[in-house]
Amino acid sequence: MLGDKKVVFSGVQPSGNLTIGNYLGAIKNFSRFSEEYKTFYCVVDLHAITVRQVPAELRRRTYETLALYMACGLDEQKNTLFVQSHVPAHAELGWMLDCYTMFGELSRMTQFKDKSAKHSENINAGLFTYPTLMASDILLYQTDLVPVGIDQKQHLELARDIANRFNQVYGNTFAIPEGYIPQDTMKIMSLAEPTSKMSKSDTNQNAVVYILDSKDDIIRKFKKAVTDSEAEVRFSEEKPGVSNLITIYRAFTGKTVEEVEREFAGRGYGDFKLAVGEACADGLAAVRDEFARLMADKAHLEAVMKAGADEAAYYARKTMSKVRRKIGFVN
Ligand code: TYM
Repeated sequence: MLGDKKVVFSGVQPSGNLTIGNYLGAIKNFSRFSEEYKTFYCVVDLHAITVRQVPAELRRRTYETLALYMACGLDEQKNTLFVQSHVPAHAELGWMLDCYTMFGELSRMTQFKDKSAKHSENINAGLFTYPTLMASDILLYQTDLVPVGIDQKQHLELARDIANRFNQVYGNTFAIPEGYIPQDTMKIMSLAEPTSKMSKSDTNQNAVVYILDSKDDIIRKFKKAVTDSEAEVRFSEEKPGVSNLITIYRAFTGKTVEEVEREFAGRGYGDFKLAVGEACADGLAAVRDEFARLMADKAHLEAVMKAGADEAAYYARKTMSKVRRKIGFVN
């Protein structure tokens, strides 16, 4: 809580072009909290450098991620939009929380295991302590609710454990955050390999639909999507490709599973895939237009990130002074 409002915090890494997984699993849901909650949406650039980034690209993507937040409906007057590295308290609290996080806990994080397998040439300490920095992002603002996809659930649980541990030692200091994980779209799958998550770092361009892809590209990618040999549009665990397409179609049309199954009964996958591609492209058209408009005015984006960082720093300072006092640092 901050004042009389519950707090929402979430973040996205500016580490690649954002996908419809990022959109449907997270960003699309952000704006629903703007009225009733105190909301913080952060571009987590400190997290992004756990994997090597090309400096110019990191800088460009940081602007782009902020612009996408806004293009997806986040009004800068109603939400605190900012860049993580602009508020040094994230890194500072991250260090302190490292000292209340166990080596064993971090070793069990599946994302660490996956990423260290993928980047075996660069298994750096930041990759290992990534989840403590994420806990710091969340706990710094006395966050109640964290909208994320299911892949972040383990990290979120660790944040709760760290907060509880700290509170037990020093008395109530941090709010204990809950996840807000959307039932239907918590894990959008790859179009090429529908048993694995759609990921912005995938090297197969046909596996991933980016929010900013052109309509033609989107339709082409859905046409190529892996399905099965059954030619029946039916939602089932045994049909991961088709089920993923149904989920995406539903997310853009608001239809139920039954409605989608009925709509495509007796029709081939060709029709279905085209319809999914069109629904997705049309659903994103406004986002794309708004994004282009926002990116044309860098000065405005800079003003938004500056105001956001000032606002975030104000609240971060409050938590930090409490933390310092409790730990025993001299004021
Ligand atoms: P990141 O940048 O990998 O992803 C941003 C958000 O998108 C969600 N997501 C998905 N949801 C459904 N289907 C998918 N295929 C899919 N791919 C990604 C992610 O779950 C996430 O919500 N560690 C975080 C960033 C972070 C953060 C935080 C989030 C840093 N600090 C504090 C919340 C609170 C990450 O790497 O997200």
